Formats: sequence, structure tokens, C-alpha cells
Amino acid sequence: MIGPGSFTIRCPREVLFGWGAIDNLPAAAAKLGAKPFLVVGGGSLRAGGVLGTVTAGLEEAGLVVTLFEGIEHDPAVETIDRGRAALNAAGCDSVIAIGGGSVMDAGKAIAGLANEDAPTGEFVAGKGISPQCLPNICCTTTSGTGSEVTHVSVLTDKGRSLKASIRTEGMMPSVAITDPQLTISVPPEQTAFTGLDAFTQAVESYVSSGANAFSDPLALDAATRIGQWLVVACEDGGNREARENLSLGSMLAGLALASARLGLVHGIAHPLGALYGLAHGEACALLLPDVMAFNAPLVAPKFASLGREMGITGELNDDKACEDLIAWTEELCEKLGCRRPFAGFGLRREDYPAIVGAAMKSGSTKANPRKVREEDVVGLLDKAM
Ligand SMILES: [Fe+2]
Repeated sequence: MIGPGSFTIRCPREVLFGWGAIDNLPAAAAKLGAKPFLVVGGGSLRAGGVLGTVTAGLEEAGLVVTLFEGIEHDPAVETIDRGRAALNAAGCDSVIAIGGGSVMDAGKAIAGLANEDAPTGEFVAGKGISPQCLPNICCTTTSGTGSEVTHVSVLTDKGRSLKASIRTEGMMPSVAITDPQLTISVPPEQTAFTGLDAFTQAVESYVSSGANAFSDPLALDAATRIGQWLVVACEDGGNREARENLSLGSMLAGLALASARLGLVHGIAHPLGALYGLAHGEACALLLPDVMAFNAPLVAPKFASLGREMGITGELNDDKACEDLIAWTEELCEKLGCRRPFAGFGLRREDYPAIVGAAMKSGSTKANPRKVREEDVVGLLDKAM
């Protein structure tokens, strides 16, 4: 058991979890403002009928909704700039984001920067954000990032070949809605990618240098649930029990990472996403087993207890139990079709300096339990090739 230590708990004012939790959105939104700015992604929310039901519910509650559609994967700073301008033009007083991690990150960024003047790219490059944010509500439609319970937004600035996070306390959603019903139509490949992102986040926050007495039980529970149910959900998307456990696991992993931060997988995955457009969950899956092996000498007892808790190993020797967990993780990624060599995505040696530079600067890398040197990142990229 981890010692009391000192840590910070960051979480939304309310988290509404459960089948049908989305029905509570109008009442929750009415408490925040009268003119919500509704941020959504592609057409699937509209085609599935969810968007129509949601907007009708908000309007019945007396709210004047401004819709902002078309958030792309890995939202670009230009998209956030357009959203901020549209929000200000409509005089909106709050933001609701309904979608996967990209949509929620966009919604949080638009709310977080609503009172700022500088272009979004400057904040991604490191400019500080004032705490005067508009309140936001995040409703997730995938079991992945756990973005509905974090104050972080990951954005892409193609002009600077930069994928980085912005964060400020005011970007934490006032209300998070994690409704497993919304994930039921997510196709198998996306279920696998988002689930492996959530699993990676659980594992990284469990052993990060910021891991603490609050985050540890959440991360452990998250990894166990996701490990047990991810393959089932990929094979049988309509399995309600699997969807509920994945939704809960991803949300708990989000709470864990908001307190404990992440590790080297995320430090490298972000520049890979920025340079090659690699799906975030797939990048995580490609790196996770090797980064676990890199960290194992320092965190073997924790990996061992995770492996035993997940029922993967009965080994009493920590080093052997740790090896079992890493082998199991590699098999899981392979089973889900996420172990293709990086070379297939266009990874080139001449890009190494840019990737290594971004990885070394990342806050996730700084939270990795084992100190990371540039040559360690190069070694991991070589293995992934
Ligand atoms: Fe992630």
C-alpha cells in the first residue's frame, strides 16, 4: 500500500455515471447558463439520433443552443479558433461537448480560452491561460481518454508540428456524463484503440512518479476492468456488461491521471500522432509493452501486484509476475490488431530528433517512474520500427 504522502485531487463537481445518464444533461446544463455552445464531432451522433434527442431536451429546458459541428480527430488549433469566434458571436455562456476525446478536448479548449485574445496556437506553445474560463459539461461517447473528468485538452498545431496539451483548473468540466449506452455503436477497431488508450492511462498513472493514495485504487480498478472486458466489447459490441465496465474503467483511469499524470508512452505517442497522424490508442499500444519493460526494474512490485489483481499471474516472485504482465499486455495488443511495426506508418530515422525533442519536453515523460534519457527514447523507437 502506498504511503499517505501529499497529492492533489482534481475532479469535476459532479460525475453522472450509468446507463441513460445522458437524460440528466438538460437539468445539469440549465444550472450553468441559458445559452450553451454545443460542440460535437462528425455525423454519427446526428445519424444515430442522439444529437436530435439532446438538442430537443435542451430546448425543452428553455435553453438557446448554438451548435458547432465537425470537430476532427486530434483537433487543430484553427478549429478551436473558429469555435471561440463562433461562441463569442453567439454570446454563449457555457459549453457542452458530446463525443470522443477529440470533441471533449475541443469543447474544454473553447470554454477555457473563451475570454482570451491570443490565438490558440500560442497556448499550445506554452502561453499561460487565465483562470476565467466558461463552465463546461463533457459527455463521452467512447471508452477511452477519460477526458470528461480531466482539465486537460490535447490539441494539434500542424504549423509547428506540435501535439501538446493545454490545461488550467477552470477547464475541468463542471459536470461529466459517462453513459455506457452512448458507446454501444462504437465499431470494433475504434473500441480497441480507445480501450487500449484507457488501459495505457491506467497502467501509466498506476506507476507514475505522481501516483498516490487517491489515484492508485482507481488506476488498479480501471486496468482490471479494461483488461477483463476489452476483448469482449470488441467481439460483441452490444454486450451491455462489457460496455459498462469499459466506460467505468476509462472514467476511473481519467480521474487517476488527472491526479497522478502519465508516463513515457504518452510522452512519445503525442509527437508520433502530430507527425504521422497515427491513432492515439494505436500509438499507445505499440509502445506500451516496451515502455513497461523499460520501467520494470523500478516498479516491479507494483506491476506484480497489478498482474495478480488482474488474475493474469499467480507468480509470487515479483520479477516473474512482472514479466507475465508485460507478456499478457503484448498479447492483448496483438489480439486486437495493434502491434504493427512503426515503419508501416512512415516513421523515419530523420524524424527522430523532432520526436525525441518533443518527448523529452513532455510533462508525461517527466512523470515517468524511471528517468528518461534521449538515448532511451531512440532505443524505444528503434524497437518499434
Ligand atoms: Fe491517452
